[in-house]
Amino acid sequence: MTESGETRIPAEQGGPPQKPPPLKTRLTELLGVSYPIVQAPANFVGVPRLVAAVSNAGGFGILASGRLAAGEIRDDIRAVRQITDRPFGANLIFGSPGYEKLAEVFLEEKVPLICHSRGNPKWLIDLTAGLDMKIMAMVGSVRHAVRAEQDGVHTIMAQGEEAGGHVGHVSTMVLLPLIASKVRIPVVAAGGFSDAAGLVAALALGAEGIAMGTRFAVTLESPLPVSVKKRYLECSENDTVVTPAITGTRLRVISNRFTQMLEEGERPASWREKISGAMETRRMLGVSWWRFILGGWSMRKQYKASISELGHLAAGGVRIRKAMIEGDADLGVMPSGQVCGRIDDTPGVEELVYRTVSEAWSVLGSLRDRMPPQ
Ligand SMILES: Cc1cc2nc3c(=O)[nH]c(=O)nc-3n(C[C@H](O)[C@H](O)[C@H](O)COP(=O)(O)O)c2cc1C
Repeated sequence: MTESGETRIPAEQGGPPQKPPPLKTRLTELLGVSYPIVQAPANFVGVPRLVAAVSNAGGFGILASGRLAAGEIRDDIRAVRQITDRPFGANLIFGSPGYEKLAEVFLEEKVPLICHSRGNPKWLIDLTAGLDMKIMAMVGSVRHAVRAEQDGVHTIMAQGEEAGGHVGHVSTMVLLPLIASKVRIPVVAAGGFSDAAGLVAALALGAEGIAMGTRFAVTLESPLPVSVKKRYLECSENDTVVTPAITGTRLRVISNRFTQMLEEGERPASWREKISGAMETRRMLGVSWWRFILGGWSMRKQYKASISELGHLAAGGVRIRKAMIEGDADLGVMPSGQVCGRIDDTPGVEELVYRTVSEAWSVLGSLRDRMPPQ
């Protein structure tokens, strides 16, 4: 049993994990860390405690910023710095209401790295020019990776279709080597990773490290309700679906009663839900109605989205909150990668990072032994 009452499942409790030797790549050099393991940005998951734990363990934690007001993300950045003096990053979801304000906070607080999701990061590269800050672009296509490199990002997170959250159309297995062959900057592989074998495979496919979202969501330091972590543990690789019906764009989530309702043709979100979603979003962001409407207007233009579609996005956010904060695993929405099917324990972050790297060293060593003498 842990402090929060969670039980490690299964209860394989050996001695304390041994700290492995550094596993250096161009990514670890760029980020200033010991191990090429990134905690991918994940809304409702990437809170200061988890982020700092990953960075303290020698990996690289990234703070989530979705649905946070500028003051809240500033508090989160400072909270991370209370727990660790190691480097960490923060996520910026381009086009989300108030994103320019969040960028200002990241600059003022001199966050070492901004992970830019969705859209073209050029504006952010111009904004941070000459500052000691790194930009990582999360992309789901070769074209976007090449353009982001030309625009001047320092590293690419290549996210395959099996990932949790909003996803593109191409699997990590195909996307990663294509991107790695087309850009020179370090590439981090995301989508489908949970262990040492995945790390070694990613290195073989041309990545300089891995980013894990779903795996870090099911750790002791993850803030998710126990009921939700339990649902992730119970899932097989077949238990996720990709649907545009929740936020308006393709979102990979765990199948549950709510996604079944969507599949059975029940209306994804009524106008009532859309309006209450918008009100809830504005309240969470802590911005004035005027600013909220202006943000919505710019999103409308950027994504060529209708008011109904934006309302849809807001209603989806409320559904995600219902699971990730309130713990309703049946009627809430739980973004998850297919890799949930490979996750069957709830380790502490340090244990997870150390075992991934230690086992990666063994896997690297054992590959030759598996081949018969030629
Ligand atoms: C619970 C959850 C929330 C996520 N939230 C975000 C987010 O706020 N911003 C973002 O850019 N990506 C988000 N993602 C996507 C992750 O950054 C990452 O690309 C993905 O988790 C990698 O695939 P994996 O889940 O197989 O590890 C989220 C993923 C999950 C599982």
